[in-house]
Amino acid sequence: MVVLDAVNQIQAAQANDLACRWNCKAGKCGSCSAEINGMPRLLCMSRLSELPLEKPITIEPLKAFPLLKDLVTDVSWNFAVKKKIKPFKPRAPDAADGTWRMAQADIDRVQEFRKCIECFLCQDVCHVLREHRLHEQFIGPRFLIHVAALEMHPLDTEDRLAELRAAHGIGFCNITKCCTKVCPESIQLTDNGIIPLKERVVDRFYDPLVKLLRRLKAKAQ
Ligand code: SF4
Ligand code: SF4
Ligand code: FES
Repeated sequence: MVVLDAVNQIQAAQANDLACRWNCKAGKCGSCSAEINGMPRLLCMSRLSELPLEKPITIEPLKAFPLLKDLVTDVSWNFAVKKKIKPFKPRAPDAADGTWRMAQADIDRVQEFRKCIECFLCQDVCHVLREHRLHEQFIGPRFLIHVAALEMHPLDTEDRLAELRAAHGIGFCNITKCCTKVCPESIQLTDNGIIPLKERVVDRFYDPLVKLLRRLKAKAQ
């Protein structure tokens, strides 16, 4: 029995108007996100047998987003954020038949980020959104790894570093790794996505040698 079963049972027998969002009951749709005993988790993947049953289990809605009713929050901010990120822009095909050639190692690197089910548990736990409410200045861990998937894609030619530094607010992340800990897909958000992006931003905008070379280049032109 998982926590979602308990919620459905309560809905059927005791509180018919209890609002709860779910679809797959298999940890794949990302709909049933909530907070169980204060921790962001999927209701359908949390077994009752793994929770301490000597005291009541608390089930609460996500805190980082506006509450609609009971366990349902309005997560539409996330979809608006995604629209602001520059989309995939592949280079011209490598072969006359319109196909590309890529190294398997390069594909493997971004494959992990594509496992995201958009449950937004990582967004919920991140203190920048949850406590500091900087939704206007920070896109959150889910979308930092979305940018990572695009930036590290071997075919992509777009440049998103200026936005990462300014509009996407990557500097607000202080690498606490809380997002990585709650991800039901075990994506290594911080180590494999956010830190490499931070390094790229630092190399571009803060490396004194790169700055000097850029100035010399501008002078020479
Ligand atoms: S590592 Fe960064 S993005 Fe992840 S929870 Fe911590 S501050 Fe937020
Ligand atoms: S990165 Fe993990 S925690 Fe964040 S939205 Fe995707 S699946 Fe959920
Ligand atoms: S119901 Fe789909 S992830 Fe839980």
